Amino acid sequence: MFVMSIWCSSLSLSSRSLAIALVVCITLVYFSYSFNACLLASISRSLQQYPPLTQSNLRNLLALTSTARNESSEAGNSSSSTNTSSTNASSSVSTSAPPAQAVTSSLDGAPKYQLLRQQGLRPSRHLPDTLIIGVKKSGTRALLEFIRLHPDVRAAGSEVHFFDRHYQRGLRWYRHHMPYTIEGQITMEKTPSYFVTKEVPQRVYHMNPATKLLIVVRDPVTRAISDYTQAASKKADMKRFEQLAFINGSYSVVDTNWGPVKIGVYARYLERWLLCFPLSQLLFISGERLIMDPAYEIGRVQDFLGLKRVVTEKHFYFNATKGFPCLFKSEARSTPHCLGKTKGRNHPHIDPAAIERLREFYRPFNNKFYQLTGINFAWP
Ligand code: A3P
Repeated sequence: MFVMSIWCSSLSLSSRSLAIALVVCITLVYFSYSFNACLLASISRSLQQYPPLTQSNLRNLLALTSTARNESSEAGNSSSSTNTSSTNASSSVSTSAPPAQAVTSSLDGAPKYQLLRQQGLRPSRHLPDTLIIGVKKSGTRALLEFIRLHPDVRAAGSEVHFFDRHYQRGLRWYRHHMPYTIEGQITMEKTPSYFVTKEVPQRVYHMNPATKLLIVVRDPVTRAISDYTQAASKKADMKRFEQLAFINGSYSVVDTNWGPVKIGVYARYLERWLLCFPLSQLLFISGERLIMDPAYEIGRVQDFLGLKRVVTEKHFYFNATKGFPCLFKSEARSTPHCLGKTKGRNHPHIDPAAIERLREFYRPFNNKFYQLTGINFAWP
């Protein structure tokens, strides 16, 4: 009887332990299931953030990364306005993948680049295939902003001044200032002082004799006034334009050593470029037409670069407040964007007699320029 009761009590003890163990087990299974379900949901959410990588969203990805970078470097040059309505001929000197240091840089470590690398794609920096070499104050920024709407064009955000100021730093340094590109994209850079700097044509030729050159030109008298307006905006006590453009206080002798006047003798600088490059590698864009009909000029540029005509009239609208064409960043007319305040300034009044005298001065040089380019720009 005694043995029987002990056996019974031990049996009841073990069935209680069994019940407790069972409850613990069920709780553990429940928590582990919930945890895994959360984990899976979070992974699937992250995957949905990255759409499948097609060639076109790959380009958008690169464009987005560069826009962010360029916008920070160009803060002074352009601004958003919301208040109103060929294949990649990588330079022969271009070296292969970016240095290991670049791969670990903060930009390259960004999720977008990690994603590209996971897809086996290696965006890399290349020396430019195309340069906007000038001419200062003719619409070079507008040209760059317009052409870089094209998904196959990637451009350095700010003027690099490699061939005129930083040549001693070498091509590796220059390449490091270029944006990342994938196969098929053109790398572009704009520094308007290249056009007038003596050593630049040979240096560009040395980098890559196949470099394509874009040159925006504008009536040299208006260009000189624009150049002067820019200088005067930085210097409060600047003399009047008429005092600087002529020698001896009369309008008889033009001061050809004064920068704003000198740069307008386009033929003189062009002759140097033609010693190194055939005319077929140069495209001249009319600064006047770039304002009147930007889509037309951008069409010519796309043809010259062997690009599909993606940037069209749908990308432009005339902004009455600014008095200039502004652009939509996409065909869907999203994000209206005008060039910054330093582009499209009001010019001071200049004595018409001074203007007439300057026109007379430039006429023979303009004719020479028309002859060299085979284009009559019809400047007055
Ligand atoms: P102004 O500011 O004297 O009017 P660059 O970019 O080479 O410095 O040239 C500046 C000039 O680009 C401006 O000179 C302006 O006339 C011209 N330009 C052409 N298209 C423009 C645009 N869409 N918006 C603003 N300026 C434009």
